[in-house]
Amino acid sequence: MKGVILAGGTGSRLYPLTKVTNKHLLPVYDKPMIYYPLQTLLDAGIKEIMIVSGRGHAGDFLELLGSGSEFGVRFTYEIQDEAGGIAQALNIARDFVDKEAVTVILGDNIFQDNIKDAVQSFKSGSHIFLKPVSDAVRFGVADVDKNSVRVLGIEEKPEIPKSDYAVTGLYIYDNGVFDIINTLEPSGRGELEITDVNNEYIRRGLMKYSVIDGHWSDAGTFDSLLRAGLMMQNGL
Ligand code: DAU
Repeated sequence: MKGVILAGGTGSRLYPLTKVTNKHLLPVYDKPMIYYPLQTLLDAGIKEIMIVSGRGHAGDFLELLGSGSEFGVRFTYEIQDEAGGIAQALNIARDFVDKEAVTVILGDNIFQDNIKDAVQSFKSGSHIFLKPVSDAVRFGVADVDKNSVRVLGIEEKPEIPKSDYAVTGLYIYDNGVFDIINTLEPSGRGELEITDVNNEYIRRGLMKYSVIDGHWSDAGTFDSLLRAGLMMQNGL
């Protein structure tokens, strides 16, 4: 199993905090934001991790994280030239992932749960992690059949959500994910959407989900960044 942290994007919702640095280098309480998704991958036992960042601040990630030896793992770095979407950023990791499976985490997502069991028991298809939230309109939202433990579909930032299950920014995929990304067309906002990847796995009947128990927050808006910091201050 390979790991990928996606730390590209523009960080426009946090401007001017992101005017001279990358969102994932901003502090969340006592650590740079990217330390948290990194810890999630480390706790899952993943040893080879790629960090995809945007142009401009790539050197800062290298400076901050180094080779990985400090963490007992190996880091590889890549650049996403333009913010063309989460699925486009993942596609950059194609050669790095090679013939293995991949756990992908968004660089602004902070999890309390340990996902080691899901990662280590993963065989094929895909797996997403859902969390009930009160502001589902901000996220990808999953419609699920609780009886059969099946995901029926995912809508990206729906005006009227079909459930309160946010799709968190943590995904496990088999190697077929790259062929799916190759078939995608840019969405209305001009991005290759990870939700379109997930809906293709759902269409093929190859998507599993679990609901996470612990705290979860993104940190990509002023309010969620503050909330994530307070979560950490309280020892999570
Ligand atoms: O936080 C979970 C949500 O993340 C999911 O519920 C949504 O389905 C998913 O689309 C995503 O929504 P956001 O609108 O919050 O995504 P955002 O554009 O803020 O990007 C989140 C992270 O993904 C960002 O911190 C870095 C990475 N990213 C994003 C883009 C657009 C890249 O690496 N490259 C990109 O081009």
